[in-house]
Amino acid sequence: MVRTLGEDIAPEAASILADARETLAELAEEGVDEWEPAEPLALPEGPAPALAQPVSKPRPEPQPAPLLQPTPSPQPGSSPEPGVEAPTWGERPTLDEVRAELGDCRRCGLCEGRNSIVFGDGNPEADLMFVGEGPGEQEDRQGLPFVGRAGELLTQMIEKGLEIPRSSVYICNIVKCRPPKNRTPLPPEVSACSPFLDGQIAAVRPKVIVALGKPATSLLLGRDVAITRVRGTWHEYRGIPLMPTLHPAYVLRQYTAENRRNVWDDLKAALAKSRG
Ligand code: URA
Repeated sequence: MVRTLGEDIAPEAASILADARETLAELAEEGVDEWEPAEPLALPEGPAPALAQPVSKPRPEPQPAPLLQPTPSPQPGSSPEPGVEAPTWGERPTLDEVRAELGDCRRCGLCEGRNSIVFGDGNPEADLMFVGEGPGEQEDRQGLPFVGRAGELLTQMIEKGLEIPRSSVYICNIVKCRPPKNRTPLPPEVSACSPFLDGQIAAVRPKVIVALGKPATSLLLGRDVAITRVRGTWHEYRGIPLMPTLHPAYVLRQYTAENRRNVWDDLKAALAKSRG
């Protein structure tokens, strides 16, 4: 099928091309010059930490700044699309309040193609919070984050790798509706949705946030990052330790021992810090 780059798909195509360019540049930097054939899923290596402990430590109080910035390619000062109202909850909302405010959201164009709003899943008092990019096909069908192939890998890493139940962590995405053809969410879409991620973080008050992939990491750090450079290093979002790591979908595409080991190392470090 031939598509003309009309106004309707130009931003989408530009976003896909920018992603592809970035991925190729990162791979070239890492000396990758060929693809490995896909292998069956394997568990992360290394000794498994003990089971998750109940929350016993005081949670960090949320810091007033910085608020989420739009991404990818954050535009300083850019805000939700015209007509998008600021949320009304206070400093310590509940997840139900944030979900209620989201309502039957029509704040950006992603509402047009969605079947479900994929808000989040897991323990509302989790110590560990995972933030991904956006729902895919399965997530859109089921209304739950990370239930497709990438989700299976993430769930394996949490349950069989870290040896904690998936239900003990909280999982959500930077956008709550599926982008068409699973493209990276566009800056206005991310901006329109970011107050709700901010609300989720303020509600859960995790001890550690794991940002899965470049868009989530860029949003939470307020700058455009190369995920292969920042992964595995500690950052902060509003006083909460933040560990960026590779997105499970990227790991599935680049199923190398190095990528799996890196994610495993990052998740172990995140779990250890969350247990403080
Ligand atoms: N599924 C999700 O829920 N989020 C992603 O980022 C990818 C797959």
